[in-house]
Amino acid sequence: MSSAVRPRIFVTRRLPGPCFEKLLEEFDAEVWPEWQHPPYEVLLEKAREVDGIVSLLSDRIDCRLLTEGAKGNLRIVSQYAVGYDNIDVECATRNGIYVTNTPSVLTEATAELTWALILATARRIVEADAYVRSGEWYRSGTGWHPELLLGMELEGKVLGIIGFGRIGRAVARIGAKGFGMKVLYYSRRRAPEEVEKELNATYVPLDTLLRESDIVSIHTPLTPETRYMIGERELRLMKPTAILVNTARGAVVDTNALVKALKEGWIAGAGLDVFEQEPLPPDHPLTKLPNVVLAPHIGSATKETRERMTCAVLENLLAFKKGEVPPNLVNP
Ligand code: DGY
Repeated sequence: MSSAVRPRIFVTRRLPGPCFEKLLEEFDAEVWPEWQHPPYEVLLEKAREVDGIVSLLSDRIDCRLLTEGAKGNLRIVSQYAVGYDNIDVECATRNGIYVTNTPSVLTEATAELTWALILATARRIVEADAYVRSGEWYRSGTGWHPELLLGMELEGKVLGIIGFGRIGRAVARIGAKGFGMKVLYYSRRRAPEEVEKELNATYVPLDTLLRESDIVSIHTPLTPETRYMIGERELRLMKPTAILVNTARGAVVDTNALVKALKEGWIAGAGLDVFEQEPLPPDHPLTKLPNVVLAPHIGSATKETRERMTCAVLENLLAFKKGEVPPNLVNP
Protein backbone atom coordinates (compact mmCIF):
# COMPACT_ATOMS: atom_id res chain seq x y z
CA MET A 1 0.00 0.00 0.00
CA SER A 2 1.41 3.43 -0.93
CA SER A 3 2.02 5.48 2.24
CA ALA A 4 0.23 8.48 0.66
CA VAL A 5 -3.06 6.56 0.78
CA ARG A 6 -4.90 6.76 4.10
CA PRO A 7 -6.15 3.22 4.76
CA ARG A 8 -9.65 2.92 6.18
CA ILE A 9 -9.78 1.61 9.71
CA PHE A 10 -12.50 0.94 12.24
CA VAL A 11 -11.45 1.67 15.82
CA THR A 12 -13.72 -0.01 18.35
CA ARG A 13 -13.08 2.51 21.14
CA ARG A 14 -11.41 5.91 21.56
CA LEU A 15 -7.86 5.35 22.88
CA PRO A 16 -5.90 7.56 25.30
CA GLY A 17 -2.81 9.65 24.56
CA PRO A 18 -1.23 11.77 21.84
CA CYS A 19 -0.59 8.79 19.53
CA PHE A 20 -4.33 8.61 18.95
CA GLU A 21 -4.30 12.05 17.29
CA LYS A 22 -1.51 10.84 15.02
CA LEU A 23 -3.53 7.73 14.20
CA LEU A 24 -6.48 9.92 13.17
CA GLU A 25 -4.16 11.93 10.88
CA GLU A 26 -2.55 8.91 9.25
CA PHE A 27 -5.69 6.85 8.70
CA ASP A 28 -9.19 7.33 7.44
CA ALA A 29 -10.56 6.24 10.79
CA GLU A 30 -14.04 5.67 12.07
CA VAL A 31 -14.14 5.53 15.87
CA TRP A 32 -16.99 3.76 17.68
CA PRO A 33 -18.37 6.52 19.93
CA GLU A 34 -19.50 4.43 22.92
CA TRP A 35 -17.58 2.79 25.78
CA GLN A 36 -19.82 -0.28 25.41
CA HIS A 37 -18.45 -2.56 22.72
CA PRO A 38 -19.96 -2.34 19.24
CA PRO A 39 -22.54 -5.08 18.59
CA TYR A 40 -21.16 -8.02 16.63
CA GLU A 41 -23.34 -7.15 13.61
CA VAL A 42 -21.72 -3.69 13.45
CA LEU A 43 -18.24 -5.20 13.66
CA LEU A 44 -19.13 -7.57 10.85
CA GLU A 45 -20.42 -4.78 8.65
CA LYS A 46 -17.31 -2.68 9.29
CA ALA A 47 -15.01 -5.66 8.64
CA ARG A 48 -16.44 -5.82 5.11
CA GLU A 49 -15.71 -2.12 4.52
CA VAL A 50 -12.27 -1.40 5.98
CA ASP A 51 -8.57 -2.23 5.58
CA GLY A 52 -7.97 -2.57 9.30
CA ILE A 53 -9.66 -2.95 12.67
CA VAL A 54 -8.33 -1.72 16.00
CA SER A 55 -9.82 -4.13 18.53
CA LEU A 56 -10.11 -4.52 22.29
CA LEU A 57 -10.10 -7.81 24.18
CA SER A 58 -13.89 -7.59 24.55
CA ASP A 59 -14.46 -7.52 20.76
CA ARG A 60 -15.21 -10.91 19.24
CA ILE A 61 -13.08 -11.22 16.11
CA ASP A 62 -14.11 -14.69 14.96
CA CYS A 63 -13.61 -16.65 11.76
CA ARG A 64 -16.88 -15.54 10.20
CA LEU A 65 -15.90 -11.89 10.60
CA LEU A 66 -12.36 -12.44 9.35
CA THR A 67 -13.49 -14.45 6.32
CA GLU A 68 -16.08 -11.83 5.40
CA GLY A 69 -13.49 -9.08 5.91
CA ALA A 70 -10.95 -10.87 3.73
CA LYS A 71 -13.45 -10.94 0.84
CA GLY A 72 -13.15 -7.16 1.00
CA ASN A 73 -9.98 -5.31 2.00
CA LEU A 74 -9.46 -6.34 5.62
CA ARG A 75 -5.74 -7.06 6.04
CA ILE A 76 -4.90 -6.18 9.67
CA VAL A 77 -6.43 -6.48 13.14
CA SER A 78 -4.42 -4.38 15.57
CA GLN A 79 -5.31 -5.46 19.11
CA TYR A 80 -5.01 -2.95 21.98
CA ALA A 81 -3.81 -5.58 24.50
CA VAL A 82 -1.10 -8.17 24.91
CA GLY A 83 -3.65 -11.02 25.11
CA TYR A 84 -5.57 -11.88 21.95
CA ASP A 85 -7.72 -14.88 22.83
CA ASN A 86 -10.75 -12.98 21.43
CA ILE A 87 -9.25 -13.26 17.91
CA ASP A 88 -9.18 -16.39 15.77
CA VAL A 89 -5.55 -15.97 14.75
CA GLU A 90 -5.40 -19.22 12.81
CA CYS A 91 -8.33 -18.14 10.66
CA ALA A 92 -6.80 -14.67 10.20
CA THR A 93 -3.56 -16.27 8.98
CA ARG A 94 -5.43 -18.48 6.52
CA ASN A 95 -7.13 -15.37 5.17
CA GLY A 96 -3.90 -13.36 4.87
CA ILE A 97 -4.79 -10.96 7.68
CA TYR A 98 -2.14 -9.67 10.07
CA VAL A 99 -2.92 -9.79 13.80
CA THR A 100 -0.81 -7.61 16.08
CA ASN A 101 -0.78 -6.93 19.84
CA THR A 102 0.90 -4.57 22.32
CA PRO A 103 3.43 -6.57 24.35
CA SER A 104 6.27 -5.15 26.50
CA VAL A 105 4.67 -1.75 27.16
CA LEU A 106 2.30 -3.11 29.82
CA THR A 107 4.62 -5.48 31.66
CA GLU A 108 5.42 -3.31 34.68
CA ALA A 109 1.87 -1.98 35.14
CA THR A 110 0.46 -5.51 35.17
CA ALA A 111 3.18 -6.75 37.53
CA GLU A 112 2.46 -3.83 39.88
CA LEU A 113 -1.28 -4.58 39.89
CA THR A 114 -0.46 -8.22 40.60
CA TRP A 115 1.50 -7.11 43.65
CA ALA A 116 -1.31 -4.79 44.71
CA LEU A 117 -3.62 -7.83 44.72
CA ILE A 118 -1.08 -10.07 46.48
CA LEU A 119 -0.56 -7.51 49.24
CA ALA A 120 -4.23 -6.58 49.53
CA THR A 121 -5.22 -10.24 49.85
CA ALA A 122 -2.36 -11.31 52.13
CA ARG A 123 -2.87 -8.33 54.47
CA ARG A 124 -6.67 -8.23 54.18
CA ILE A 125 -6.71 -4.57 53.13
CA VAL A 126 -10.25 -4.56 51.72
CA GLU A 127 -11.68 -6.14 54.87
CA ALA A 128 -9.64 -3.68 56.96
CA ASP A 129 -10.91 -0.68 55.01
CA ALA A 130 -14.53 -1.83 55.40
CA TYR A 131 -13.97 -2.43 59.13
CA VAL A 132 -12.87 1.17 59.65
CA ARG A 133 -15.41 2.83 57.32
CA SER A 134 -18.39 0.93 58.67
CA GLY A 135 -17.64 2.15 62.19
CA GLU A 136 -17.23 -1.43 63.41
CA TRP A 137 -13.72 -0.71 64.69
CA TYR A 138 -14.97 2.32 66.60
CA ARG A 139 -17.95 0.45 68.02
CA SER A 140 -15.77 -2.48 69.10
CA GLY A 141 -13.93 -0.17 71.51
CA THR A 142 -10.80 -2.33 71.29
CA GLY A 143 -8.43 0.08 69.54
CA TRP A 144 -5.16 -1.69 68.72
CA HIS A 145 -5.79 -5.41 69.12
CA PRO A 146 -3.17 -8.23 69.12
CA GLU A 147 -5.30 -10.49 66.95
CA LEU A 148 -7.13 -8.03 64.74
CA LEU A 149 -7.15 -8.91 61.01
CA LEU A 150 -4.06 -11.11 61.04
CA GLY A 151 -2.69 -11.82 57.58
CA MET A 152 0.20 -13.59 55.90
CA GLU A 153 3.76 -12.21 55.93
CA LEU A 154 5.50 -12.46 52.54
CA GLU A 155 9.18 -12.23 53.50
CA GLY A 156 10.88 -15.56 52.85
CA LYS A 157 7.72 -17.28 51.53
CA VAL A 158 7.41 -19.26 48.30
CA LEU A 159 6.05 -17.49 45.22
CA GLY A 160 4.77 -19.79 42.45
CA ILE A 161 4.49 -18.26 38.99
CA ILE A 162 2.48 -20.01 36.28
CA GLY A 163 3.59 -18.66 32.88
CA PHE A 164 7.10 -17.20 32.86
CA GLY A 165 6.93 -14.62 30.08
CA ARG A 166 7.61 -10.91 30.52
CA ILE A 167 4.89 -10.31 33.13
CA GLY A 168 5.56 -13.51 35.10
CA ARG A 169 9.25 -12.62 35.28
CA ALA A 170 8.53 -9.03 36.39
CA VAL A 171 6.32 -10.36 39.20
CA ALA A 172 9.06 -12.83 40.15
CA ARG A 173 11.67 -10.04 40.20
CA ILE A 174 9.63 -7.97 42.67
CA GLY A 175 9.01 -11.05 44.85
CA ALA A 176 12.64 -12.13 44.89
CA LYS A 177 14.24 -8.70 45.27
CA GLY A 178 11.55 -6.89 47.25
CA PHE A 179 10.37 -9.61 49.62
CA GLY A 180 13.22 -12.14 49.60
CA MET A 181 10.83 -14.78 48.27
CA LYS A 182 11.88 -18.09 46.81
CA VAL A 183 10.46 -18.31 43.30
CA LEU A 184 9.12 -21.47 41.68
CA TYR A 185 7.83 -21.32 38.13
CA TYR A 186 6.02 -23.50 35.65
CA SER A 187 5.95 -22.63 31.98
CA ARG A 188 5.75 -24.26 28.56
CA ARG A 189 9.43 -23.55 28.10
CA ARG A 190 12.21 -23.38 30.65
CA ALA A 191 13.83 -19.93 31.01
CA PRO A 192 17.56 -19.44 30.28
CA GLU A 193 19.87 -20.24 33.19
CA GLU A 194 20.92 -16.61 33.69
CA VAL A 195 17.26 -15.56 34.10
CA GLU A 196 16.67 -18.32 36.67
CA LYS A 197 19.79 -17.24 38.51
CA GLU A 198 18.94 -13.54 38.50
CA LEU A 199 15.42 -14.19 39.79
CA ASN A 200 16.37 -16.97 42.18
CA ALA A 201 13.77 -19.03 40.27
CA THR A 202 13.42 -22.81 40.03
CA TYR A 203 11.58 -24.59 37.22
CA VAL A 204 9.20 -27.23 38.65
CA PRO A 205 6.24 -29.32 37.47
CA LEU A 206 2.85 -27.63 37.98
CA ASP A 207 1.81 -30.00 40.79
CA THR A 208 5.00 -29.27 42.75
CA LEU A 209 4.45 -25.54 42.34
CA LEU A 210 0.88 -25.83 43.61
CA ARG A 211 1.87 -27.97 46.60
CA GLU A 212 4.79 -25.80 47.71
CA SER A 213 3.78 -22.20 47.01
CA ASP A 214 2.33 -19.72 49.49
CA ILE A 215 1.31 -17.38 46.67
CA VAL A 216 0.34 -18.77 43.24
CA SER A 217 0.18 -16.13 40.53
CA ILE A 218 -1.12 -16.81 37.00
CA HIS A 219 0.54 -15.18 33.97
CA THR A 220 -0.16 -17.55 31.13
CA PRO A 221 -2.14 -16.59 28.02
CA LEU A 222 -5.53 -18.23 27.49
CA THR A 223 -5.21 -20.99 24.89
CA PRO A 224 -7.03 -24.31 24.42
CA GLU A 225 -4.23 -25.88 26.53
CA THR A 226 -4.49 -23.42 29.44
CA ARG A 227 -8.31 -23.18 29.62
CA TYR A 228 -9.31 -24.53 33.08
CA MET A 229 -5.68 -25.35 33.82
CA ILE A 230 -6.54 -24.66 37.48
CA GLY A 231 -9.56 -26.73 38.45
CA GLU A 232 -10.70 -28.68 41.50
CA ARG A 233 -7.79 -31.15 41.41
CA GLU A 234 -5.20 -28.35 41.24
CA LEU A 235 -6.87 -26.22 43.92
CA ARG A 236 -6.96 -29.20 46.26
CA LEU A 237 -3.17 -29.54 45.84
CA MET A 238 -2.58 -26.03 47.19
CA LYS A 239 -1.82 -25.28 50.85
CA PRO A 240 -4.85 -24.27 52.93
CA THR A 241 -2.91 -21.10 53.81
CA ALA A 242 -2.12 -20.22 50.17
CA ILE A 243 -3.43 -17.37 48.03
CA LEU A 244 -4.26 -17.57 44.31
CA VAL A 245 -3.86 -14.46 42.17
CA ASN A 246 -5.05 -14.15 38.58
CA THR A 247 -4.26 -11.13 36.42
CA ALA A 248 -4.08 -13.13 33.15
CA ARG A 249 -7.43 -14.47 31.91
CA GLY A 250 -10.40 -15.67 33.94
CA ALA A 251 -10.93 -18.92 32.05
CA VAL A 252 -7.49 -20.25 33.04
CA VAL A 253 -9.27 -21.03 36.33
CA ASP A 254 -12.48 -23.02 36.76
CA THR A 255 -14.51 -20.39 38.63
CA ASN A 256 -16.99 -22.83 40.19
CA ALA A 257 -14.13 -24.88 41.62
CA LEU A 258 -12.48 -21.70 42.90
CA VAL A 259 -15.64 -20.57 44.69
CA LYS A 260 -15.84 -24.00 46.34
CA ALA A 261 -12.14 -23.84 47.31
CA LEU A 262 -12.60 -20.41 48.91
CA LYS A 263 -15.79 -21.35 50.73
CA GLU A 264 -14.51 -24.66 52.02
CA GLY A 265 -11.02 -23.44 52.95
CA TRP A 266 -8.95 -25.52 50.53
CA ILE A 267 -7.07 -22.23 50.02
CA ALA A 268 -6.99 -19.07 52.14
CA GLY A 269 -7.83 -16.38 49.63
CA ALA A 270 -7.75 -15.04 46.08
CA GLY A 271 -6.94 -11.79 44.32
CA LEU A 272 -8.69 -11.59 40.96
CA ASP A 273 -8.48 -9.01 38.18
CA VAL A 274 -9.96 -11.22 35.46
CA PHE A 275 -13.06 -13.39 35.21
CA GLU A 276 -14.67 -15.96 32.96
CA GLN A 277 -17.55 -13.54 32.56
CA GLU A 278 -16.69 -9.85 32.29
CA PRO A 279 -18.14 -7.67 33.65
CA LEU A 280 -18.69 -9.87 36.72
CA PRO A 281 -22.40 -9.82 37.68
CA PRO A 282 -22.97 -8.17 41.09
CA ASP A 283 -24.72 -11.28 42.46
CA HIS A 284 -21.87 -13.62 41.49
CA PRO A 285 -20.83 -15.90 44.41
CA LEU A 286 -17.30 -14.41 44.30
CA THR A 287 -18.70 -11.05 45.38
CA LYS A 288 -20.08 -12.62 48.57
CA LEU A 289 -16.77 -14.00 49.84
CA PRO A 290 -14.71 -12.01 52.36
CA ASN A 291 -11.43 -13.73 51.45
CA VAL A 292 -11.38 -12.44 47.86
CA VAL A 293 -10.13 -9.13 46.50
CA LEU A 294 -11.74 -8.20 43.17
CA ALA A 295 -10.69 -5.72 40.49
CA PRO A 296 -12.36 -4.96 37.13
CA HIS A 297 -9.60 -6.08 34.72
CA ILE A 298 -7.28 -3.12 35.37
CA GLY A 299 -3.88 -4.84 35.08
CA SER A 300 -2.58 -2.39 32.48
CA ALA A 301 -4.65 0.56 33.67
CA THR A 302 -2.07 3.26 34.32
CA LYS A 303 -2.13 6.47 32.31
CA GLU A 304 1.44 5.89 31.12
CA THR A 305 0.87 2.33 30.00
CA ARG A 306 -2.45 2.92 28.28
CA GLU A 307 -0.87 5.77 26.29
CA ARG A 308 2.06 3.56 25.34
CA MET A 309 -0.38 0.88 24.22
CA THR A 310 -1.99 3.40 21.84
CA CYS A 311 1.48 4.15 20.42
CA ALA A 312 2.12 0.42 19.94
CA VAL A 313 -1.16 0.07 18.01
CA LEU A 314 -0.13 3.04 15.87
CA GLU A 315 3.33 1.60 15.24
CA ASN A 316 1.82 -1.67 14.03
CA LEU A 317 -0.62 0.15 11.75
CA LEU A 318 2.04 2.48 10.33
CA ALA A 319 4.24 -0.48 9.38
CA PHE A 320 1.24 -2.05 7.64
CA LYS A 321 0.55 1.22 5.84
CA LYS A 322 4.14 1.28 4.55
CA GLY A 323 3.80 -2.30 3.32
CA GLU A 324 6.13 -3.60 6.01
CA VAL A 325 5.59 -6.47 8.44
CA PRO A 326 4.24 -4.95 11.69
CA PRO A 327 6.62 -5.24 14.66
CA ASN A 328 4.23 -7.03 17.01
CA LEU A 329 2.87 -9.69 14.71
CA VAL A 330 1.27 -12.68 16.43
CA ASN A 331 0.45 -14.80 13.37
CA PRO A 332 2.65 -17.91 13.42
C1 DGY B 1 -4.01 -7.49 28.07
O1 DGY B 1 -3.35 -6.60 27.53
O2 DGY B 1 -4.15 -8.61 27.60
C2 DGY B 1 -4.60 -7.14 29.36
O3 DGY B 1 -5.40 -8.13 29.89
C3 DGY B 1 -5.34 -5.83 29.24
O4 DGY B 1 -4.91 -5.03 30.26
